[in-house]
Amino acid sequence: KKRFNIALLPGDGIGPEVISVAKNVLQQAGSLEGLEFNFQEMPVGGAALDLVGVPMPEESFSVAKNSDAILLGAIGGYKWDKNEKHLRPEMALYYLRRDLKVFANLRPATVLPQLVDASSLKREIAEGVDMMIVRELTGGIYFGEPRGIKINENGEEVGISTEIYAAHEIDRIARVAFETARKRRGKLCSIDKANVLDASMLWRKRVTALASEYPDVELSHMYVDNAAMQLIRDPKQFDTIVTNNIFGDILSDEASMITGSIGMLPSASLGESGPGLFEPIHGSAPDIAGQDKANPLATILSAAMLLKYGLGEEEAAKRIEDAVLDALNKGFRTGDIYSPGNKLVGCKEMGEEVLKSVDSKVAAT
Ligand code: NAD
Ligand code: IPM
Ligand code: MN
Repeated sequence: KKRFNIALLPGDGIGPEVISVAKNVLQQAGSLEGLEFNFQEMPVGGAALDLVGVPMPEESFSVAKNSDAILLGAIGGYKWDKNEKHLRPEMALYYLRRDLKVFANLRPATVLPQLVDASSLKREIAEGVDMMIVRELTGGIYFGEPRGIKINENGEEVGISTEIYAAHEIDRIARVAFETARKRRGKLCSIDKANVLDASMLWRKRVTALASEYPDVELSHMYVDNAAMQLIRDPKQFDTIVTNNIFGDILSDEASMITGSIGMLPSASLGESGPGLFEPIHGSAPDIAGQDKANPLATILSAAMLLKYGLGEEEAAKRIEDAVLDALNKGFRTGDIYSPGNKLVGCKEMGEEVLKSVDSKVAAT
């Protein structure tokens, strides 16, 4: 039996609800492939603030850092929204990503045939969409110096964030994107704002220079404002997208609605070494937290990405993906992806249905 240490960081809001469901699915799919997981659950975000007064306790970080892979729910909530910056729950994500050095964030957006009707776009536009957004995750405006709220020469408060990218940061994320595109349909679109932003001008220059090393990949460039429009006009034109931290954050939420719901989109955050961080792209959804309404599929699919990208266990990952499709085929839908004729279920029940499908696949094979 292969053994793995998995750090579970449920966080806040719907985080604990979706993690508890995804954990069971991960455990079951793994055990059918001879994998044994040792789960260690640690507080982060608001949960950690309430418990020990900081959003990312050292102990939580050390358990995460020493694990084989990390599964995170979501972080944040109204309760802590007025906290000073260093005491905001979201800082947990910021420190985690920075200190784990997980610079490459893979956010796949796929319109499943079962969910075409849940898309906010017309059937013929949504059907068949299958893209991978490669978001730079440890640089750019999130981390650039100078930053902070300062007093300027007129004695006025100024808020400062700096978009900054070093050549090596661009090159390494671009390489991940070229490699990703190579394994997909061979098309890479780099999205920037190189008509005005200096960091984007360097971004475009470096990405363009690397293209000669990947002659099998067709590279194009697009400005982010146009990209936001093109995603809605004709999303099928995109295969692999590479973009900076902030544009990737925004465009992936936009892309999620094409697939039916933000509750469907998983992600993998990977570095050069050390454990990967796997989480849904959505937040803690305080408006539906504690009501058993959350769609757990984004987190369940993040567990599949954990198996595939984090542990190299593709068979177990496939079991989870198949089980999700099976539960959808049977008509189970949480509120966010519900359409008439289907069966409306809560977070727990959706989890149970996916679990049943993981099991029944065994019976079938
Ligand atoms: P959100 O993603 O939490 O919610 C946006 C909308 O989508 C809400 O109406 C919510 O109910 C819905 N939604 C999100 N996930 C869903 C799911 N799984 N199933 C069904 N519906 C779902 O974004 P927000 O409201 O802007 O932010 C809420 C909090 O989450 C904030 O504190 C924010 O900072 C934090 N946040 C955290 C992460 C993260 O942990 N990675 C990501 C985004 C936002
Ligand atoms: C995400 C979130 C985070 C981000 C926030 C909560 C810091 O929106 O994971 O997409 O901006 O990266
Ligand atoms: Mn986001």
